[in-house]
Amino acid sequence: GPATEQWRPAIHYTPARNWMNDPNGLIWHDGVYHLFYQYNPSASHWGNMSWGHATSSDLVHWKEQPVAMANNTREEIFSGSIVFDKRNTSGLAVNGKPALVAVYTSVFKEGSGHESGVQAQSLAYSTDNGRTWKAYAKNPVLTLRPESKNFRDPKVSWYAPGGYWLMTTVVADAHVVKIYKSSNLIDWEFLSDFGPAGVAGNGVLWEMPDLFPLPLDGDANRPMWVMLVNINPGSIAGGSGVQYFVGTFDGKTFNAENLPVQGADLSEHRWLDHGADYYAAGTFADAPDGRRVTIAWMSNWDYADRVPTSPWRGAMALPRDLALRTIDGVPRLVSTPAREYLALVNGVAASRWKALTVRSTTKPLDLANRTAPQDIDLVVEPYTAKRAGIVVAAAADGSRQTRVYYDTKAGTLTVDRTRSGDTDFSPKLSGRHIVYLPLNQGKIHLKVVLDKSSLEVFAADGRTVITDLVFPKAGDDRISLFAEDGEARFSDIAVRPVR
Ligand code: FRU
Repeated sequence: GPATEQWRPAIHYTPARNWMNDPNGLIWHDGVYHLFYQYNPSASHWGNMSWGHATSSDLVHWKEQPVAMANNTREEIFSGSIVFDKRNTSGLAVNGKPALVAVYTSVFKEGSGHESGVQAQSLAYSTDNGRTWKAYAKNPVLTLRPESKNFRDPKVSWYAPGGYWLMTTVVADAHVVKIYKSSNLIDWEFLSDFGPAGVAGNGVLWEMPDLFPLPLDGDANRPMWVMLVNINPGSIAGGSGVQYFVGTFDGKTFNAENLPVQGADLSEHRWLDHGADYYAAGTFADAPDGRRVTIAWMSNWDYADRVPTSPWRGAMALPRDLALRTIDGVPRLVSTPAREYLALVNGVAASRWKALTVRSTTKPLDLANRTAPQDIDLVVEPYTAKRAGIVVAAAADGSRQTRVYYDTKAGTLTVDRTRSGDTDFSPKLSGRHIVYLPLNQGKIHLKVVLDKSSLEVFAADGRTVITDLVFPKAGDDRISLFAEDGEARFSDIAVRPVR
């Protein structure tokens, strides 16, 4: 189709052209964040799976790099991870230079000498900071034949207490995460299975697992373990999404705690994001200061191949810092935009309103610069209004708009993109994404990160996030506050155009 640069995100990563899905090989190395990703180097639909590559020193500004590992006659290169083998456990160091080792899923082709269509785990290594990669000579290093062909998405990490490598992978259609250990990244010993658990019904796939420790309530003496399991379809907002489990890990077995009862409503499960466009989330290895930074593909398999952008298709969500907090007696993940992003936007002059009252109407915010991206903070006190919130990316006559609001009676926060612009490309795009969230002393803080074709709503200091794609018509840039059937109060409003 014709180029749609008006929808090109300004503060989210996109490749210049062609198709992108999952983030892969997330690692901080020598002062640089590396983002590899599932990439089709020659078309803007899924296929020819390769690893694209981008780098950043601050998680905000990304530079696209040459394709790192290309689809070839033997294999497609599916998702995986990268570790820095600084002790040279693998023996893959070159001239004494320890290697970055990529552990990825090979999908073997006809004539490769392997059963075609089988997914197995392989290695590649780099000693030039991830620019060029060599396949390990004896790939694959791990298969699950004859038990399964759908065995993929290895995430490897160093398990310091035991002094060995850990790998989590999925048997996608069996709803199982398999956990392995290794001393050298080459020979893998099975440790345990996790799952089925949580959302694991018929037809649901488990993909892209990630197991990592996080201190509970900031207390380094109380590390809990978090297991991310990306699922598709069957997620909270329909289609693809990230469920997570919190529990203990003894070096062998992950034990999830506080699991909802079998057959519980989707809302009883724990979700990293409640929007429709946050998938294949993973976390960076070796991030400094013990940070746990996550990034995800900002799309949904329900309609990813129809997203109306050109000449690229696929964007990444904002990198986020993760923390684990006890909320209502249960440890939950809290997500905030990466602190580098916050530092950047906090340095931009804001249009501010200390307090505004809105009664049964929509009140446009008078902004000198309305062009996305905009970073919007506000506190909403729905008070006597039935619904109260903010409208973004709206047409002057309101006929197109995206609504973010609190529903007082239901006690829910909603993003409504039913009239958000171009919604026709898929019947599954239109819709509302709703999450139950109690007010705090009658109020709720929202941070809305609005880019050219997305919004991320961080609510109640990151205890809930809703990430949704939207495709507004050029010029639809009005931002308003509204209250329905009553009075709402808004305070501490700060709107910052992000350059
Ligand atoms: C998740 C996924 C992975 C797989 C990759 C293929 O979106 O299906 O399970 O490795 O995409 O591109």
